Amino acid sequence: MINFTFSYPTKVYFGEGSAEKALDAELGKYGGTVMLAYGGGSVKKHNIYDEILKLLTKAGKKVVDFPGIMPNPTYAKVQEGVGLAQKENVDFILAVGGGSVIDCCKVIAAQTMLDEDIWNLEYVKGQFPTKGIPMGAVVTASGTGAEMNAGGVITHEEKKWKGGIFGMAPVFAVLDPAYTMSVPPMQVLSGAFDTLSHAMETYLGTSDEDNVSDDVALAIMRNTVVNMRRLLKNMEDRKARSNLMWDSAMAENGILKCGRLTDFQAHQIEHQLGAYTDCNHGQGLAVIHPAYYRHIVGDADDKFTRFGKVVFDADTAEAGIDALENFIKECGLPTKMSQLKSTVEITPEVLRQVADTCNIIKSGPRELDREEIYEILMECL
Ligand code: NZQ
Ligand code: ZN
Repeated sequence: MINFTFSYPTKVYFGEGSAEKALDAELGKYGGTVMLAYGGGSVKKHNIYDEILKLLTKAGKKVVDFPGIMPNPTYAKVQEGVGLAQKENVDFILAVGGGSVIDCCKVIAAQTMLDEDIWNLEYVKGQFPTKGIPMGAVVTASGTGAEMNAGGVITHEEKKWKGGIFGMAPVFAVLDPAYTMSVPPMQVLSGAFDTLSHAMETYLGTSDEDNVSDDVALAIMRNTVVNMRRLLKNMEDRKARSNLMWDSAMAENGILKCGRLTDFQAHQIEHQLGAYTDCNHGQGLAVIHPAYYRHIVGDADDKFTRFGKVVFDADTAEAGIDALENFIKECGLPTKMSQLKSTVEITPEVLRQVADTCNIIKSGPRELDREEIYEILMECL
């Protein structure tokens, strides 16, 4: 185990009715003006917005509405939120949505209390914010695990870059599986595949033998696959959605990362693919993973063999990767770039730019070079 410091910044309220429990218990700690942030309208359509608004009103809060946070939230949207938070003297931000809404709010929370541009602070100076407006998260679509960490993934459209910006971690998170029941099947499966990817990418990073974090990561992977298969049989299975909701938080709340390094090379490639195409995050990962894994299988044979056996009951490392690819097909997730919903035609030139601009990870099974990343992407075309 390598050294680590671990603390939970987020208090979790899990289960049906937990929004009321959480907001009753938590909101009194913060000032009177709450920014209610959400996405493109699903929360209004499915009555989650009304329920939350009622609870905020009951708590005597002045509500400042901030709608329209898009999937793959942009840096411009962050700045719009900052402007509103400053103008209205917002005391608390409540993000109601999936990873996109939560991420955008984490960064708004930090940027609002900074005198300088957060991008500059983090990417030019290598410093990180130490304070921000407190925020909470009500998760309506699970998968990213964004609700239990401080990292926001933001697309900087001018810079053609999608990547992490550290903001504020939610002080509390509401995880009520009932709120996820209206998420369309393909988004549920894309989100769950993202969870699977987080556990796989963590597991494939550098760790010592018989590492406890490896064991926990494998358990999360197995459970995610089991419950995705339950949903394939019955999308209304609330128990499966509940397990997936906690799998999602567990995969990204830091527990799996204790005492080891992580890989996350597939994520780095996918984020830049997202910057150029605005594709769905989980679906982009589904396309990239098998091709990436076939490139590195020889560098982590033991880990892939164990992954195959525990998660898919496969006999060899290669058979485990085949099983992963078959599972992606079984879920109806995309396996080729042409199946991704994209704002541009995904051509070799686009993929060249993705390969030339994505981060390269040093703590995975093997450090790739840009030519090999391009090869991987071309194999997915
Ligand atoms: O915008 P609305 O109308 O709300 O619709 C959303 C959106 O279209 C819909 N939705 C959400 N809750 C719903 C619902 N539809 C019906 N019923 C509900 N209850 O779902 C769609 C997708 O939402 P989004 O938040 O974009 O999905 P997800 O949770 O997968 O988040 C993706 C973003 O998170 C980032 C990704 O890169 C991407 O930008 N990630 C964040 C991470 C983190 N902070 O730790 C880690 C991840 O690796 C990831 O990079
Ligand atoms: Zn992810």
